[in-house]
Amino acid sequence: MLRIVVCVSGGGTNLQAILDAIDSGTITGTQVLAVVSNNGSAKALERAKARGIEAKVISPRQYGDREAFNRAFTEEMKALSPDLIVLAGFLVRIPPQMVAAFGNRIINIHPSLIPSFCGVGYYGLKVHEKVLERGVKVTGATVHFVNEGMDEGPIIAQKAVYVEDGDTPEILQRRVMEQAEWVLLPRAIDDIANGRLQIVDNRVRRQI
Ligand code: GRF
Repeated sequence: MLRIVVCVSGGGTNLQAILDAIDSGTITGTQVLAVVSNNGSAKALERAKARGIEAKVISPRQYGDREAFNRAFTEEMKALSPDLIVLAGFLVRIPPQMVAAFGNRIINIHPSLIPSFCGVGYYGLKVHEKVLERGVKVTGATVHFVNEGMDEGPIIAQKAVYVEDGDTPEILQRRVMEQAEWVLLPRAIDDIANGRLQIVDNRVRRQI
């Protein structure tokens, strides 16, 4: 059984996709131990509670400085001792000591085709605003392992989504979530739960 903790910051639609996929059997052999958010009013926490899953809040604002938060967040995660940490719309940088402790057992969903439109400052709606500003015709989402960089870890999977005339950032974000994020993240979790992924020379291979 793959025991996972899901980290969230906002609406929790990616978390919901995971929970629904577990219920429908799209994800097998997986149990959500807890949902952790830096935002006490995140709707994602309500989604967890509705499913009887422990919902925890841990925020940098609760600590005097970022280093104290990083230590506490890492200790909290070690205490939960998940097999996999899933960042699902989580907007706080993962502490280096957590990356070191859970190397290649942390995955993230990013709403663009990495290496485009990623890195510092590229999150949430901002990603789609920049996509429309640049006028690219194809965007999408990427699920990747988390390393000490920002959106730089080995890529697990990507899915392309067409930009359409008249798209606003909100319309495009929704299409990317529906067509890419909510598909890629559950599939990546199921692949990991069923031992289908291998990392060779920092690149991910999927074996059916
Ligand atoms: C969305 O911008 C999504 O593209 C990104 O995180 C944000 C919130 O997602 N992954 P969620 O609804 O909280 O899962």
